[in-house]
Amino acid sequence: MHPPLIDPFARPITYLRVSVTDRCDFRCVYCMAEHMQFLPKADLLTLEELDRLSTAFIGLGVRKLRITGGEPLVRRGIMGLLRQVSRHLGAGLDELTLTTNGSQLARHAAELADIGVRRVNVSLDTLDADKFAAITRWGRLPQVLEGIRAATDAGLRVKINAVALKGVNDSELIEIVQWCGDQGHDLTFIEVMPMGEMGEENRLDQYWPLSDLRARLAERYTLIDLAERTGGPARYVQLAQTGQKIGFITPLTHNFCESCNRVRVTCTGELFMCLGQEDNADLRAPLRASSDDAALRETIRAAIARKPKGHDFDYSRQAVAGQMTRHMSHTGG
Ligand code: GTP
Ligand code: 5AD
Ligand code: SF4
Repeated sequence: MHPPLIDPFARPITYLRVSVTDRCDFRCVYCMAEHMQFLPKADLLTLEELDRLSTAFIGLGVRKLRITGGEPLVRRGIMGLLRQVSRHLGAGLDELTLTTNGSQLARHAAELADIGVRRVNVSLDTLDADKFAAITRWGRLPQVLEGIRAATDAGLRVKINAVALKGVNDSELIEIVQWCGDQGHDLTFIEVMPMGEMGEENRLDQYWPLSDLRARLAERYTLIDLAERTGGPARYVQLAQTGQKIGFITPLTHNFCESCNRVRVTCTGELFMCLGQEDNADLRAPLRASSDDAALRETIRAAIARKPKGHDFDYSRQAVAGQMTRHMSHTGG
């Protein structure tokens, strides 16, 4: 057993997010440019390398593994990778899960459940088909709803991720809350983060602070703050009237970095110690240089030793030009 990963601020690193592809069948406006240049195949970590990397992190104390993208379910062979990695469940790994746009869930839900995935996070910002098509640039809402239904039918818990967008889904707040309540889905609202180059849409214009959203909810429901966490960044409230729990991910209005337990690896093997910082370490080189994982582990350890205290996202301080040009899809959220 190797000593666990502890960062310079005494935070144990137990949650790894692994992006398995930069591709996606949608192009959410806050996540990707409309015309993305996708990476050449040779740059991507192979499925074997992704397995080795995940296994190395689990050996270093990671207990929660989230597969992301792009859209993870468009990566060829992804189910085989998940099945491979699932051997660690109950043997170091507590949770194997994924964040998906839901478009391919209908095909894969039953197998995911069979593999040992217990819950999935599905991005869904609106229940209006036209708005959905506008946000994703061409996504079809019914396809995603069908995926969500298939996941539920297969016994998976579904958490809906809704990015809060002023002028887009603010008018639907109560409807989204009620729909998730009726369907039995968990729900998390996310503040839109200033990533990717600004195009026709501007994240500043769409930024809707969750403090406002919370106040709007409080006009209708009594909100009870909950102490419980999922190991992710969300803070939860319960609606006293219905018992429903709602999560808030507030990188802008209420930084949660002090309890950060996670790092992320891109599909080319860059280890980002923070979503909102550029510093990263190349894990592909040690993976490809040797079949022994000692150098890989050393590179990981050295990177964790420089994990920053937190991100610099701040709409009040940063001009649009100073925002992070890296797309969210690059780091997998
Ligand atoms: P749970 O396990 O359900 O708590 O999931 P999660 O919130 O960890 O993962 P998910 O993929 O659903 O991410 C939801 C949102 O949280 C995405 O917009 C992520 O970009 C954001 N997020 C996750 N981790 C971090 C983080 O360390 N910093 C910031 N700023 N955002 C994060
Ligand atoms: N700000 C906040 N959340 C984002 N996501 C993608 N881009 C952004 C952004 N700029 C969300 C997606 C998905 C999760 C992985 O990250 O909606 O649910
Ligand atoms: Fe694809 Fe998810 Fe990014 Fe939307 S947010 S473009 S669904 S990876």
